[in-house]
Amino acid sequence: MRPRILTGDTPTGRLHVGHWVGSLENRVRLQDEYDCYFLIANMHAFTTRADKPDEIRRDTIEIVKDWLAVGMDPERATFVLQTEIPAIAELTWLLAMLLPFNRVMRNPTLKEEIAAKGLGDQYSFGFPLYAVGQCADILAFRADLVPVGDDQLAHLEMCREVARRFDHQYCGVPTTTDDADYAKAGGVFPIPQPKVGRVARLVGTDGVNKMSKSLGNAIFLSDEAKEIQKKTGKIFTGRQSATEPGDPKNALFEFVNAFIPDEARRAELAAIYARGEIGDGTVKQEVAAAIDALVAPMRERRRGFDGPAGEARIVEMLHAHAAKANAVAEETLAMAKAAMKLDFGPRKLSF
Ligand code: TRP
Repeated sequence: MRPRILTGDTPTGRLHVGHWVGSLENRVRLQDEYDCYFLIANMHAFTTRADKPDEIRRDTIEIVKDWLAVGMDPERATFVLQTEIPAIAELTWLLAMLLPFNRVMRNPTLKEEIAAKGLGDQYSFGFPLYAVGQCADILAFRADLVPVGDDQLAHLEMCREVARRFDHQYCGVPTTTDDADYAKAGGVFPIPQPKVGRVARLVGTDGVNKMSKSLGNAIFLSDEAKEIQKKTGKIFTGRQSATEPGDPKNALFEFVNAFIPDEARRAELAAIYARGEIGDGTVKQEVAAAIDALVAPMRERRRGFDGPAGEARIVEMLHAHAAKANAVAEETLAMAKAAMKLDFGPRKLSF
């Protein structure tokens, strides 16, 4: 049996090249080695946008298009639409009892989001609950590995904590057990490992902040060549002229290093940039060309799902995959409930 991966995205808009180097690339690469579950966290989208069901529906379809475009393959991996998996919601409740309230509220990723989105103290009860829900997403599939961007590591740490606690408390796993051995020691949950991508935190085209859709500094996987050129043209370096010695550690070179595949060319660019022998504009053009070469085939594949027929195929696929996902998640839930002495015979729901 192959080890399992679970990871996913909240449908809040199109995916960008930061997602590619941070997580998508790993997902595509690991599809054969791992039994992969890719989750669309549409429930989580409601925690801050409960008033926008139309947008969330649209973004759900769009994110699947992005996935198919980058080569996440529904023939090899299982696509998991969160709201179709009731075991995740139930497991969220069960895990919520093992996490102190203050522990959840101290989660740095939640805190950052509250600040970044200006939520103040006006967020829904469901908003911090999503962090517990994310533990349930991962544990419902008893995942071994979770490929994510570095902004998700705080969630992963909480997930690992609650998994250990569950296995200690209800499965008799000794607290001295190595993380790698929890399942072997009789735990329901293996302790999942995070896997951060090649570029943990890609800078945005503003040259300062992390690339993010909401900051308007993102190059999307679905952008056309012209748009990519325009956006790379704006990457801020502060350099005054083409002959000024450049800093090959600046924001522009983060893009060079992330997207120009030829290592020798990267080294050469860094050297001539440092000597003031090449202008920013020329480097930017080369970056734009490299990004376009990466995303052109993605744009093409995405087009295959345009229009109502494409959307219908996606909905049908999500429906079929929910059956596979539910088989695994229901099995996990039954194991967890049995460990908690909540086993009262198999569940039969039919109408
Ligand atoms: N919170 C993640 C994000 O916004 C999405 C997500 C939900 C996720 N559940 C997950 C990622 C489980 C990894 C594992 O990007």
